Amino acid sequence: MLDAFNRRINYLRISVTDKCNLRCRYCMPDGQIKLLPRSEILSYEEIVEVVKVAVGMGITKVRLTGGEPLVKRNIVHLVAAIARIDGIVDFGMSTNGLLLRHFARGLAEAGLHRVNVSLDSLSPERYAYITRGGDVGKVLDGIDAALEAGLAPVKINCVITESPQEQDAREVARYAADRGLQVRFIRQMVTAEGQFWPVIGGHGGKCASCNRLRLSSNGMIRPCLFSDLAFSVRELGPRRAIEWALRSKPESGAVSHNKFYEVGG
Ligand code: 5AD
Ligand code: SF4
Repeated sequence: MLDAFNRRINYLRISVTDKCNLRCRYCMPDGQIKLLPRSEILSYEEIVEVVKVAVGMGITKVRLTGGEPLVKRNIVHLVAAIARIDGIVDFGMSTNGLLLRHFARGLAEAGLHRVNVSLDSLSPERYAYITRGGDVGKVLDGIDAALEAGLAPVKINCVITESPQEQDAREVARYAADRGLQVRFIRQMVTAEGQFWPVIGGHGGKCASCNRLRLSSNGMIRPCLFSDLAFSVRELGPRRAIEWALRSKPESGAVSHNKFYEVGG
């Protein structure tokens, strides 16, 4: 499907939950976050229905995000149901990796193709600081598990404050190079101030070639991470929600009040 600016839209990113087992400083406030009302959260049946319709309209790439997708109950069931849909050529998940050791094999067996793992620092102290308590050892073990399970290519997402030359980023780059993993540097953004940058080494944030739509866990199709436009699949039905999002997808992003943990990175 083409949008109003002739961009081919073939990529659907699905946030399955706004919950997370970390509290990264650039993403979430400390302590309890205000979660979306449970009644608004789509069931797996509803998500699968949206994906089927989207694939029928031209989506070929699907990615599960969060929050943290691996804290969602029975996530492997959702993966299996989506993997059964004909027409998806690329099926990935973005995860913080903490639970990957436990899930990697099951995800691969259920039909997930690959994972992108967030890793902002290799230093246990720095990682714990940035994530407010995370154990980087678990992430590294999770990455090994993903490689063992064949969830390839495993890509690393590294959030940077300013530049890929800062110490944490260089250490992550070295770690990735040693293992033959691709790394993408994502500069910290403040969407409410219209601050966003192209992902270094990836495709995100490049408006002219953007191929994405998003589905949030509460059933809103969002045409752009840097816009507040959103169309409810429950109110409009999946097809109309996708059509309206496609038609209104902005030429470039501006300002939004999206929360990364609600809409997915
Ligand atoms: N700026 C940029 N990326 C962010 N993410 C979350 N918050 C931000 C932010 N403020 C993204 C990162 C992270 C993923 C889980 O969400 O890519 O790795
Ligand atoms: Fe969780 Fe990802 Fe946000 Fe960190 S950036 S708190 S891992 S959703």
